[in-house]
Amino acid sequence: MTAHDRNRRRALVVGGSTGIGRGVADAWAAAGLDVTVLSRSAPAGAGADRLRWAATDLTDAGRVTENLALAAAEPLHAVCYSAVHYGDRRALFRDCTEAEWRRQIDVNLHGLWLTLSRTIPALRRPDAPGVFLGVSSEVVYNAGPGRSGYAASKAAASALLDSVAQEEAEAPGAEALRIVQALPAGMVDTPGIRRRRPEGFDYSAYMTPGSFAPLARELAATAGAGLHGAHLVVDGAGAWFPVSERTPVSQSRRISSGAGS
Ligand SMILES: NC(=O)c1ccc[n+]([C@@H]2O[C@H](COP(=O)([O-])OP(=O)(O)OC[C@H]3O[C@@H](n4cnc5c(N)ncnc54)[C@H](OP(=O)(O)O)[C@@H]3O)[C@@H](O)[C@H]2O)c1
Repeated sequence: MTAHDRNRRRALVVGGSTGIGRGVADAWAAAGLDVTVLSRSAPAGAGADRLRWAATDLTDAGRVTENLALAAAEPLHAVCYSAVHYGDRRALFRDCTEAEWRRQIDVNLHGLWLTLSRTIPALRRPDAPGVFLGVSSEVVYNAGPGRSGYAASKAAASALLDSVAQEEAEAPGAEALRIVQALPAGMVDTPGIRRRRPEGFDYSAYMTPGSFAPLARELAATAGAGLHGAHLVVDGAGAWFPVSERTPVSQSRRISSGAGS
């Protein structure tokens, strides 16, 4: 990739190498934004050549802070936080390890805190407000038996985004940035989910990361005008509606001790 073109609006996707974050990164790049991805592995496959990438492990707070400072050194038009650590497998709370819990907090929550704190100044511009998109989950509304660490870290992440959104709405120069949360209506076929499914699993009923492209395009075009503080559900056709209209059904299922995927 070439050096930054000062005339192009800039975007950052944390956790944009694969899955929903990649869907957002590709949509923003297609909309003409200069997109940087932070993740451990480089974006691969079609469209990867349109993305910048800075190798970042969210469990290494020093490196994260360094790369976020670089990304936020100039104004940002759009930021998405989609990084996730689901955990090795679904497991009852009594079978979960403290190490897994800490990793979920690092990736699902603390990385979000770092990203918000470092990028808000670069997004918060009265003349050209930026937009922050947090990728959420149905577990925020349903809790998550068999995936308590994931559910707790995602619920805390959602509360963090809501709290900051409410502060921003009250701040002088309100609407200087917009914070939006979006979650899929059902399961999405992503590498993170595939790692936890048996070989031969049928993904035909699953959504694809591309379902997030229409919303990502809308946010790039409008910087989230009129959507500040919204919790949106994205369906398989790429349409979206407020979560208050219809809460997505729980994706949790009963498991017994030692089982799960
Ligand atoms: N898929 C679903 O069905 C579903 C349903 C509801 C909500 N969601 C939400 O959607 C979001 C994305 O999920 P997904 O299924 O698309 O996930 P995914 O395909 O597993 O992608 C996760 C992203 O996070 C990055 N990541 C993970 N650990 C990292 C670390 N230690 N340091 C830096 N980056 C790290 C991965 O990059 P590297 O591996 O390259 O580091 C990747 O870019 C999450 O917020 C999840 O809660 C997904």
